[in-house]
Amino acid sequence: MLPSHNPVESSAWQKLEMIFLTMQATHMRELFIEDPQRFQKFQIQFEDILVDYSKNIINEEVRSLLIQLANEVELPQAISAMFTGEAINKTEKRSVLHVALRNRSNKPILSDGQDVMPEVNKVLEQMKTFSESVISGAWKGFSGKSIKHIVNIGIGGSDLGPYMVTEALRPYWSTITPHFVSNVDGTHIAETLKHLDPETTLFIIASKTFTTQETMTNAESARAWFLEKTSNKGDVAKHFVAVSTNQKEVTKFGIAPENMFVFWDWVGGRYSLWSSIGLSICCTIGYNNFVQLLEGAHAMDNHFRNEPLEKNIPVILALLGIWYNNFFGAASEAILPYDQYLHRFAAYFQQGNMESNGKSVDREGRNVLYQTGPIIWGEPGTNGQHAFYQLIHQGTKLIPCDFIAPAISHNPIGDHHDKLLSNFFAQTEALMNGKTAEEVEQDLEKAGMTKEEIAFHTPFRVFEGNRPSNTILFKKLTPRTLGSLIAMYEHKIFVQGVIWNIYSFDQWGVELGKVLAKKILPELASRDEITSHDSSTNGLINHFKRLKFS
Ligand code: F6P
Repeated sequence: MLPSHNPVESSAWQKLEMIFLTMQATHMRELFIEDPQRFQKFQIQFEDILVDYSKNIINEEVRSLLIQLANEVELPQAISAMFTGEAINKTEKRSVLHVALRNRSNKPILSDGQDVMPEVNKVLEQMKTFSESVISGAWKGFSGKSIKHIVNIGIGGSDLGPYMVTEALRPYWSTITPHFVSNVDGTHIAETLKHLDPETTLFIIASKTFTTQETMTNAESARAWFLEKTSNKGDVAKHFVAVSTNQKEVTKFGIAPENMFVFWDWVGGRYSLWSSIGLSICCTIGYNNFVQLLEGAHAMDNHFRNEPLEKNIPVILALLGIWYNNFFGAASEAILPYDQYLHRFAAYFQQGNMESNGKSVDREGRNVLYQTGPIIWGEPGTNGQHAFYQLIHQGTKLIPCDFIAPAISHNPIGDHHDKLLSNFFAQTEALMNGKTAEEVEQDLEKAGMTKEEIAFHTPFRVFEGNRPSNTILFKKLTPRTLGSLIAMYEHKIFVQGVIWNIYSFDQWGVELGKVLAKKILPELASRDEITSHDSSTNGLINHFKRLKFS
């Protein structure tokens, strides 16, 4: 079981509140001047990934108090509980074992007293055989042609992970082009299918429950589109496979048992890309690269499980997040990859983090009296610089940022990458140092401004600085590195959930809207006036119907 503690009552939290009063008046610029060793003191290296967290408003005392906080809430016991398959997802009575999916050591991991590894390996073997046959062209469609396109139909965790990873690993693509359809908006599937030929297209219906409205609607439409070309229902078997935990519903849909890839209820939707939900990844980059992704995640799992807290990357990142979220009052965190291939990385962790830690009830069922999960957002650099960095630099909100970049580009064209990286380094430097009024005045004087002009313009051009960031710099975006980076953030989210004393692996907050939508759907079919809701909802539905039926 997860230990339960009110973090606010820990002695570390109270000490952190005291030291916060000093730290909020401290400028990082001074911390760097005072200690030339700061970069060495506040960094961790893992394989070829360097995590520099020296540009944070912390000193060694803050770091050790944060570590003390982690110890007081018994984080090490919580980590062990997850890795040993305890049912830590208590509200759903499940273990949380995405780590088993990438357990390359193959040492037994138990859920409900059963070693899950034989089943995990069996499905991996099935994924290998299938993806190899699709990529080699041995898998034939109904007309005897090989498959060229796969369409993953899924949503949330059954879409975001495979989509993010396949985009991130484009340099590793095989002969298969992946497509992703998630939104129930018919435009998504219509626009995707427009360019595809049923003879060479294979659909992967990815849904843990196989009951999700969006996915099942898109799956039905895909099947109807396919059957327009061949009216032989038997051909469906060559073009539709399913990934799910729900064998009954898969069979009902008409997918043959041998074309079903299972996974298990101990895999959370937003942690499922490592399972057979990763089938679209496998078919896109090939099984061996998929295994590299698993290997990278497994290596990070070992780091997380074994390193002492002060040298543990996910733990340190989590504690820094707590420091800003709960003491500085920061409401959001930005994830800023300086790599175009990572353009879905922030969106992926928007779900990963916000669906996990967007909770306001603690593990005792009480309303929490402190802040929990942050808002996660971000875009790749340098696009973000020309969009929202103004607010990060000079706005009124504190936004801790993670800057992520590879040293070596997959596309070394001219000096693009040096230019990209010069921006990467410049941004964290500017955020930390800022620019004082004196520095601005000197510049304006050099530019030939008069005294009056300088007095007017200076305030607008001052950068306070002292805006925190982590820099995550690695050699190259390979499947292994990507696996490690994803696992790093997954564990960060877990650590924060432990400290906030919340359940990170359920998502009851998505239920109410789904239930109400089911009730509203039949109301939209006829012209009848609707009166069963509040006046706004009634008014909107009735207005919609007037437009629809006019
Ligand atoms: O958004 C809620 C959610 O349950 C996610 O956790 C999950 O990833 C997504 O819906 C899709 O669910 P399924 O895989 O069952 O279709």
